[in-house]
Amino acid sequence: MTEAELRGQLVELSASLFARGFSVGSAGNISARLPDGYLMTPTNSSLGRLDAARLSKLDDNFTHLAGDKPSKEVFMHRAFYRARPDAGAVVHLHSTMATAVACLEDVDPANPIPPLTPYFVMRIGRSMPVVPYYRPGDAAMEPAIHAAAKGARAILLANHGPVVSGANLRDAVHAAEELEEAAKLYLLLRGQATRTLTALQVEDLLRTFG
Ligand code: 13P
Repeated sequence: MTEAELRGQLVELSASLFARGFSVGSAGNISARLPDGYLMTPTNSSLGRLDAARLSKLDDNFTHLAGDKPSKEVFMHRAFYRARPDAGAVVHLHSTMATAVACLEDVDPANPIPPLTPYFVMRIGRSMPVVPYYRPGDAAMEPAIHAAAKGARAILLANHGPVVSGANLRDAVHAAEELEEAAKLYLLLRGQATRTLTALQVEDLLRTFG
């Protein structure tokens, strides 16, 4: 995919997330890897109204090269790309259900949402840790996110929201959508006797779908 095509895809997928309520106001930020750096949504921009020509362009070290000033969460994105050489895109949202789970006290911080459905496991993987709270834009979050992302495609930032990576932009967006649905199911089912997938079923999914 050319840079122009990636810019167009980033604008289109961001607008789709916004239109369906996965982000509101100027919440959320999205980045995608280029052969020579990264594209990132500008700070304070709405995912619903991005301009392809004004997306932030960063070099390999995440130094701002062109376009509008990048998201204040550049450290969050850098932590993911450095921890996961397989990541082609990173999506951060404040989507309601996943953020609600990120506010719960009584979940396992190593894996707050159980394997309820195959697509959650296929898109997010075996685990999705909760990383402690940091003020949005705080560079101090980078080591904690880097450590967590080494073992997981997605994390929940406590009291803030999900950060999801994928092999490419479309995959990362699909994974973020699937995570939001899994969080919704989990919250709907809390307090009820629930059948989760077994460890064998989870391993079978990961073996088959990667
Ligand atoms: P930016 O507007 O700087 O991307 O920040 C939005 C956000 O979601 C903070 O977590």
